[in-house]
Amino acid sequence: MSSILIIDDTDKYWELCTRFMPEHVFLPPARNYREAEATLAHARDVDLVLLDVHFDISEAELLPEDKSELFARGDPGRVLERLRRGQGLHILDRLRRSHPDLPVIVMTSRDDLPIEADAERLRAQDYTYLLDEEYLDARSLRLQVEGILAQRARPPAIDEPFYWGQTPRMLGIRRRLSILARGRLPIILLGDTGTGKTLLAREFIHPRSQRTGLFVAVDLSTLPHELMAAHLFGVVKGAYTGATASREGVLARAHGGTLFLDEIGNLSLELQKQLLVVLQDGRYTPVGSVEERTCDIKLVVATNENLAAMVQAGRFREDLYMRLNPATAVTLPPLRERGDDFATLLDEFFVRVAREPYNRDLALQYARQRGLQIPEGDAAMPIMVGRSVSARADPRRLLFLIHPSSYKLLREFHWPGNFRQLEMFLSNLVTLTLVELVDQAELVEPGDPSQASRPDVVPILPRMARDLLKPMEPPKPVAAAADADGEGGGGFNMQVSVRPQESLNAVSCDVERQYLERMFDTYGGDLGRIAEVLLGDAGGGRKVQLRMNQLGIKLRKLKRKRGAG
Ligand SMILES: Nc1ncnc2c1ncn2[C@@H]1O[C@H](COP(=O)(O)OP(=O)(O)OP(=O)(O)O)[C@@H](O)[C@H]1O
Ligand SMILES: [Mg+2]
Repeated sequence: MSSILIIDDTDKYWELCTRFMPEHVFLPPARNYREAEATLAHARDVDLVLLDVHFDISEAELLPEDKSELFARGDPGRVLERLRRGQGLHILDRLRRSHPDLPVIVMTSRDDLPIEADAERLRAQDYTYLLDEEYLDARSLRLQVEGILAQRARPPAIDEPFYWGQTPRMLGIRRRLSILARGRLPIILLGDTGTGKTLLAREFIHPRSQRTGLFVAVDLSTLPHELMAAHLFGVVKGAYTGATASREGVLARAHGGTLFLDEIGNLSLELQKQLLVVLQDGRYTPVGSVEERTCDIKLVVATNENLAAMVQAGRFREDLYMRLNPATAVTLPPLRERGDDFATLLDEFFVRVAREPYNRDLALQYARQRGLQIPEGDAAMPIMVGRSVSARADPRRLLFLIHPSSYKLLREFHWPGNFRQLEMFLSNLVTLTLVELVDQAELVEPGDPSQASRPDVVPILPRMARDLLKPMEPPKPVAAAADADGEGGGGFNMQVSVRPQESLNAVSCDVERQYLERMFDTYGGDLGRIAEVLLGDAGGGRKVQLRMNQLGIKLRKLKRKRGAG
């Protein structure tokens, strides 16, 4: 719930807002600048101001207070009319001086009043044209209000390495994790691969835990089972052959800090029991030792398996699961479900990859070729979606321009590898785009007219984006049976079942047997046709027959089966 002040000479917007945004408190509207200042002086904690532009108010209430100079220059009637039309901007100018940090949305229902430039000059957070269509107006206002309030709710951005975006779902997760981080209870992080579980544990949870010890991460999916116990609990010399020296385990290293166990589902039932004891009384025994040790750790676990289902299947101990505090488990949504955040995240990842030394060097090289003076230290190269760039962009900065159709492609891509994949994709996109431009620039003469247009804008070619996405598309599902003639451009697709055998050779013979039988069926027993498909030689039917004999396929039996079917 936020406190919002509307500055407007009528009740129109106040009524609209109180009706459509009941979750916020709207203070009684201020009718002019003087009332606005009075309200702001008394009501502490106004979060946002909505400011109309056109004010039909008396001469005495209009800014500026002293109009004599204006009157001297023109017809007083006209002067007042102009002041009324743009009164909101005069008010904004004053508010900027008295309340520099107060967010303001400028709004007008008169589309004949261009307010963009003034709103920007006077550092309004946003502006909006309302259409006198109640529902649509309320919707667009609400989106802007929520966007600005969410930004304000964020603590000052200390360049957080974990990008949160703006959606209420993610801001909710952030709030929850800041609280859980400080407590003693374990935290479960769920989410598909590449959704940021490890990053979150290291860069967000641990720093907020107020613990002085180390952050220690262990990926249990990469540890051989037989080494897990020693790795976690430590081992004493001579505990087993190969234990030539005593070694500390990660529990000891994370003492006083945070232990992050990735892919917790890989822990054996026996080790699960030992971990439970650690959580219950902070006690454990190194492998081969008789002496118990104690530790104080904050445990964060992650998995992309369904732990509850593992408990049901008897593969995860219920008592450990309950102890991990499943009621507060946090699920990080996959990239494709990040909805309206996609644009923000794209932006943030883009700036990150463009800053990588390799991409940065290429960008500086390109800038030099085009005669741009990019300050060395300022390498934040943003990305913009659009067909062209307005003339207002800062020409001392490179700006990447992505075509709306390519943006749509990215937005609708399913991103199975989530942020890890997005980051890699964007890094390739920046590199290849710049390499191509740098190479091109070497070929053109200085003064070539094709080089004249906006050297600060780097267009991302739709072809480039498309080509880089293509290899990441999921493989087409294999057809359940051979397609119509069994040999389209994609080859002969079919499903085979792979059964365990005594050797790999036996497995491949079994698979080969299945597909030869299927081909026999598809081509009506015509061995010449099969040879044509497999060897490109219709005369090779004999070879196929021998091979089938070798594999133990009884041709006569197959023929009889065909005859019966
Ligand atoms: N919200 C985010 N903000 C910034 N970077 C992110 C975010 N999420 C993921 N990344 C980046 O994506 C990559 C993968 O993240 P991370 O390793 O944390 O994923 P994960 O969920 O632990 O994946 P896995 O299940 O495969 O271990 C890292 O390079 C990380 O920096
Ligand atoms: Mg991870």
